[in-house]
Amino acid sequence: MKLYIVTASQREESESFKVGEFLASISADKGFESTEVLDLGKQENSLMLNMSHYWNPEDEHAIRWAKISESLEQADAVVFVTPEWNGSLTANTVVFMNLVDKELAHKPGLLVSVSGGRGGAYPITQMRTIGYKNSRINYIPEHLIVRGVGDVMNGQEVMGESDQVVRDHGHYCLRLLAEYAKALKSVRDSGVVDHDNFAHGMS
Ligand SMILES: Cc1cc2nc3c(=O)[nH]c(=O)nc-3n(C[C@H](O)[C@H](O)[C@H](O)COP(=O)(O)O)c2cc1C
Repeated sequence: MKLYIVTASQREESESFKVGEFLASISADKGFESTEVLDLGKQENSLMLNMSHYWNPEDEHAIRWAKISESLEQADAVVFVTPEWNGSLTANTVVFMNLVDKELAHKPGLLVSVSGGRGGAYPITQMRTIGYKNSRINYIPEHLIVRGVGDVMNGQEVMGESDQVVRDHGHYCLRLLAEYAKALKSVRDSGVVDHDNFAHGMS
C-alpha cells in the first residue's frame, strides 16, 4: 500500500512538515510499503491561487500538478497536515482541494492539524466540510491535533508526557488509516462507483 502525505504550511521549514516527516517515519510498520511527502511550503511546490494556470496544459504549474495527480492516483490513503493560521486552514490547502479531481475518490484521508499553541480544532472542522463533495475523499473519524508543536515530535527521543501522548495517537491514527485503506479498496473494486453518471456530489 502507498501512503501520500500533504503538508500544507505556506512557510519553508514549517512545523507541519516536521509532523508530516514524523508520520512518514512511523508509517512502514502499519503496512504502508511506500510513503511520499509533498511539502506545499517549499517554494518549488507552491500552488497558484489563480486557477487559470492549471487550465493551460503547457503551463509549468499545470505540468507540476499533473505529476502530483499521478502520485495521488497511485495512493491507497492520504494524510493532510494543515497548520492553524488565524483560526483557519491555509489557502494552500483550499487550492489543493480545488485541484484534486477523482484521484482520491473512495480512499481514506486522515486529518492532522498543527498549532504552535493550544489551537488546532478549526482546520479539522473546516476540512470535514470542504473538498470531499466532488473528490469523494473519505475522511476517517479519528484525527490528530498536534498542539504546542514546537515541543513535540522533535527527532526520535520522546521529550515528556505531551510528546508521548501525541506520538501514541499518531501511531494509532496510522494503524486505523491502514485498515480503512484495505477496507475501502473493496468499495473501489466493487463496480458500484459510477463517476460517469454521478460526477458531482449533491449540493
Ligand atoms: C499567519 C499565521 C497565523 C497563525 N494563526 C494561528 C492561530 O490562529 N492559531 C494557532 O494555534 N496558531 C496560529 N499560528 C501559529 C502556527 O500554529 C504555528 O506557526 C505552527 O508552527 C504551525 O504552522 P507551520 O506549519 O507554518 O509551522 C499562526 C501562524 C502564522 C504564521
